[in-house]
Amino acid sequence: MAKFDNSFTDELRQRLSLVDVIGRKIPLTKKGQNYWGCCPFHNEKTPSFSVSEEKGFYHCFGCGEHGDIISFTMKSENIDFKTAISELANMAGIKMPELKQKTPEQKQAEENYVKITESAAQIYQDLLYTEIGKVALDYIKKRGFSDEMIKKYRIGYAPKNNIISSKFANTKVDKLVATGLVRVGDYGPYDFFRDKLMFPIFNAHGQIVAFSGRSLDGSEPKYINTTDTELFHKRQTIFGFNFARDAIHRQNRSIVVEGQIDAIQMQNHGFSETVAPLGTALTEDHVAILCKSNRNIVFCFDGDNAGQKAAMRACTLVLPFLRDNSDVRFAFVSGGKDPDEILKNQGEPAMKKIIDNAVPLIDFLWDNVNKNYLINTPNGRTQADKFLKECLSKITDKIFQNEIEQEYNGRKFNQWHKWKKEKYTPEIELPDTDSMTINIIKSIVQTYPEISEKHLDFLSSLNIHFDEDAPKSDLSPENAEKFIVSFKLQKYIQKLDQEKQQILSDLLNNSESNIEKIKEIDEKIKETHEKLELLLDMNNK
Ligand code: GTP
Ligand code: MN
Repeated sequence: MAKFDNSFTDELRQRLSLVDVIGRKIPLTKKGQNYWGCCPFHNEKTPSFSVSEEKGFYHCFGCGEHGDIISFTMKSENIDFKTAISELANMAGIKMPELKQKTPEQKQAEENYVKITESAAQIYQDLLYTEIGKVALDYIKKRGFSDEMIKKYRIGYAPKNNIISSKFANTKVDKLVATGLVRVGDYGPYDFFRDKLMFPIFNAHGQIVAFSGRSLDGSEPKYINTTDTELFHKRQTIFGFNFARDAIHRQNRSIVVEGQIDAIQMQNHGFSETVAPLGTALTEDHVAILCKSNRNIVFCFDGDNAGQKAAMRACTLVLPFLRDNSDVRFAFVSGGKDPDEILKNQGEPAMKKIIDNAVPLIDFLWDNVNKNYLINTPNGRTQADKFLKECLSKITDKIFQNEIEQEYNGRKFNQWHKWKKEKYTPEIELPDTDSMTINIIKSIVQTYPEISEKHLDFLSSLNIHFDEDAPKSDLSPENAEKFIVSFKLQKYIQKLDQEKQQILSDLLNNSESNIEKIKEIDEKIKETHEKLELLLDMNNK
């Protein structure tokens, strides 16, 4: 077994949430101090697997399995200690302290790597301010970069010739190839980046591990990035994170934009907590790294279709990380613009407005579903509903999940079934429906949408404006439903002949003075509830 410094495993435990790591594998619900779920190590239907975030331990009261974040990862994925540690380190976005147990050769290789990338960056930087780099310098200045910014982000110019391969002619080609800066072709080594505006990519420790090069002559692709190397994993690297890290803590949130120039401009216009994924696609690792600092993220995307799609992707990726104290929002920049252009053309206040108006995740998801499905058809509503359920199932905290589900139930009731536009088709006039009863029904409908859903047909046949404000119902859910059912009964009574009608309504009206009778009727109502609905149905036909 590989030996790791205790301080490193401690750091892992400290940086990663046990509830997150386990929550990625099994649904957990918070009860009291701990989280509970069905044990992944034995077969069970009722949860006896408890997770204590505070103590950093899990324990199964069913099979006795227990351990910490590392043993969980080992057991649940059937991997060894070293692999588990490396996986967790990736998740935490921290570097393995492998240097200690690496062979001196490996250690040397990494040192060489950074030495090469650092001096390459310096070469590019210097070139930017020579005649050769003039086009690039003019370009970046035109894009609003000051000399200070150019220096801070170490922006440079890779010339048309093979500068790295020639400047490092005395360095073994393998070492150059390892950095991704040089490739070997039929005619020998050549530079990967040529005639590009160069943006170094830093790791979390501020070392240059890769580059992103922008074409200057309009040729495609617009950007090329170093392909993955030993020290650079694109899926786990967030552009600008090394600069933004402190601000993300300070501001207690991060802003994610699509492009690296956008990230830089944002950082330099007061939004220092801004980062960008590398390339276009956001990954789960990116989200995990950001969530390590806090779970408050504003995703800022283009308002076009691609931006909406990217936002939806971010939304599904972030769902498992949501907690009841997270604040995840979506902002959209419209008109084919990006934050860089907004800042340049309209200034910081315009950008601030966009960020301030960001839509909370729960609204974004709702709006998106309503846009993407044909909500005015039962099929569309079913598909939308299924999609929402699938999204919600990703939320680890079950209480939170339930709460959002309730919220959506209310929206479904009020918006999908469109009470306002419902045609009022009172088949039977209810002469004594006093305003109090109407108000009670209104409150029930607004307080318990899920109950009202069950009696949708009946309720929508009433001449009541359900969209008007009503106070919260103080009835229990059970009594609320009983109220609706007995109201239904009244309606039914009116379909009976005069004599029976009299007997039944006497019974109902007198019941106030006789508690036993109320109970009796309640019971009867309960029993006959379904039969009544059937009868009502038949009567209506
Ligand atoms: P500028 O035109 O320089 O402002 O770039 P942008 O950030 O506005 O570009 P765009 O919105 O088209 O793309 C957003 C991000 O996607 C860029 O910052 C790049 O990281 C990435 N990207 C864009 N085009 C390419 C490409 O052709 N290849 C790769 N690998 N990434 C790209
Ligand atoms: Mn742009």
